[in-house]
Amino acid sequence: MPPMKPYTVVRLLLKCALAMATLAITIRLLHEFDDLLNEPIEEFSLEKYPYVPPDPNWDSRSPCPALNALANHGFLPHDGRGATQREYIRALRQGYNLSLPLATFLTVSGHVLLSQYSLLSLADLSRHNCIEHDASLGHWDTLVTQEYAPDKPSTWLLDRVLAHSSDGETMTLRDLAEARLEREADYAHPLDAVHEEIARGEMSMVLGIFGGKDGCVPVDWLREWWEHERFPQGFKPNRQQTLFDTVRGSWNIKQAMKSMGKKLEHEGREVDGNGGSD
Ligand code: HEM
Ligand SMILES: *[C@@H]1O[C@H](CO)[C@@H](O)[C@H](O)[C@H]1NC(C)=O
Repeated sequence: MPPMKPYTVVRLLLKCALAMATLAITIRLLHEFDDLLNEPIEEFSLEKYPYVPPDPNWDSRSPCPALNALANHGFLPHDGRGATQREYIRALRQGYNLSLPLATFLTVSGHVLLSQYSLLSLADLSRHNCIEHDASLGHWDTLVTQEYAPDKPSTWLLDRVLAHSSDGETMTLRDLAEARLEREADYAHPLDAVHEEIARGEMSMVLGIFGGKDGCVPVDWLREWWEHERFPQGFKPNRQQTLFDTVRGSWNIKQAMKSMGKKLEHEGREVDGNGGSD
């Protein structure tokens, strides 16, 4: 065997190091995965996890009513600061009965969109155009001079959403799709495809989690949860919301928005909301 050149030796060592690192990361992931799969999820109980209002001078909150409510009830750390990915996943499963794949997907994609892989505080989610987007149903847009969006819901905007309830008592898929169309019609340009998808995904989860079998969300519940960021009395996450449910619901909302958008155009009203790629 001819003697090896120094260059070849370095390459060999580098390859070995890379292989070891990959192995180490894989083993760690598998180990954590096992923990995640076997993590016991405590039963949802509002007696055990009562609503405690946030301290406006200290607690960190986001523009997401779902996560704020989790923190207000202590399913997430009440101060909303520095939670781990494990804590987000656990809280989403306990509070909303999300499947492990959905809870993991939301948590991981949230971190990726923020390019923040360590601890995450709720206020980090307000960073504009990472996850947070314009044309939200529940809060005003980020001011052009600001990096962060408001984390407080707007009663005025929510009134406008809930006014779409066809029967005055519940919100259906059509009602929410109509509310999104109306909100997006405020804009000259549609949202980009990613944020359009996020906006529909949020509505899809609301319908799946609070809508029960028939997909009708009580208006009172929605107001309590979205405006006051508090779990409604009598709510229990009795059915499991999966990743597939969420994607399917989102697609149905897209179709409803398309058909209603067309109808409005026929009636000669300008609608600029029907974004997306096709
Ligand atoms: C790790 C999980 C989650 C993350 C990182 C997250 C993040 C966010 C962010 C950044 C916003 C602001 C978007 C905007 O500008 O409107 C938001 C809004 C919202 N999220 Fe979440 N969220 C999560 C889970 C959930 C879940 C489980 C639900 C369902 C119950 C939900 C429902 C909503 C709703 C209804 C809005 C308001 C949308 C609007 O005002 O138009 N989110 N979320
Ligand atoms: C989640 O939903 C399933 C039914 O799909 C149910 O058996 C389970 O008890 C629910 N979990 C919680 C925490 O409510």
